[in-house]
Amino acid sequence: MKIVHNIARLRQRLDPLRAQHQSIGFVPTMGALHEGHLSLIRRARRDNGVVVVSVFVNPIQFNEAADLAAYPRDLDADAALAASAGADVLFAPDAAEMYPAGFQTAVVVRNVTTPLEGASRGAAHFDGVTTVVAKLLNIVQPHAVYFGQKDAQQAIVVRRMALDLAFPTRIEVCPTVRESDGLAMSSRNVRLDPAARAQALALKAGLDAAQAAIDGGERSAGAAIALATRRMADFGVAPEYFAIVSPDDLSPVATITAPVLLAVAARVGPVRLIDNAIVAPPHHASRD
Ligand code: PAJ
Repeated sequence: MKIVHNIARLRQRLDPLRAQHQSIGFVPTMGALHEGHLSLIRRARRDNGVVVVSVFVNPIQFNEAADLAAYPRDLDADAALAASAGADVLFAPDAAEMYPAGFQTAVVVRNVTTPLEGASRGAAHFDGVTTVVAKLLNIVQPHAVYFGQKDAQQAIVVRRMALDLAFPTRIEVCPTVRESDGLAMSSRNVRLDPAARAQALALKAGLDAAQAAIDGGERSAGAAIALATRRMADFGVAPEYFAIVSPDDLSPVATITAPVLLAVAARVGPVRLIDNAIVAPPHHASRD
């Protein structure tokens, strides 16, 4: 696997492969790679002739300076893991390469960026994500790009951007990878001490409680949310939000008559965690 820090060098490496009609798969990350990221890299490996992984802790998508400063960074470990999962090229630019002096542009997606993470973290978060993803897609020009369902709203926002701006890249969203006890893998989990690690199970437990209620015939989103919130309280955790929304456009749902996205965020110890699930009501005729 080759490590490249610079846009021009990456293009030099990828242009001939593209000219040979090799299909290029791309996995953008902020590093601190774990099994969730590696599942995306393995999927890209299966689907493509060339696999590019980026590691860039994107400063403009962080709404808290402390979160950016505490974000784990270990490029050597990331390189070893990315190579083991089948990456051919690791693109690891620094902030000056991505945002040189004079940088002025933002890519802004409206509406689907407003609720949930947009409301909690502020509009700048998704503006930062779409701006960096658009730039990375222009740098790598992949045939397919791989995202995790773990960040459900991010996947919806990026799909919207790609559709609206006619990006030629296929967008693939892959399942959330979890620890054996159900905690969704996250680069931030390493910052949980043992007590907070136990409390972090509140998010999955809340999702499971709401899912069980919906499976049992509960159609009121408000009732399912109340149940989930009570379940999370068993762990001493209060959600920042627990929402039931449309999985297509994140519009609020009051009565559950079609598949819904359950989305939760909570602060556990020093860390802010998110998780989600897509749940269909019983006897629902699937759309696909
Ligand atoms: P990061 O949090 O590093 O995540 C990179 C990719 O890995 C995202 O698509 C995310 O959804 C996916 N991922 C994270 N945890 C996962 C898990 N447990 N199971 C499956 N996939 C998982 O998301 C970002 O970086 C950034 O916003 C980025 C898109 C790179 C733009 O800066």
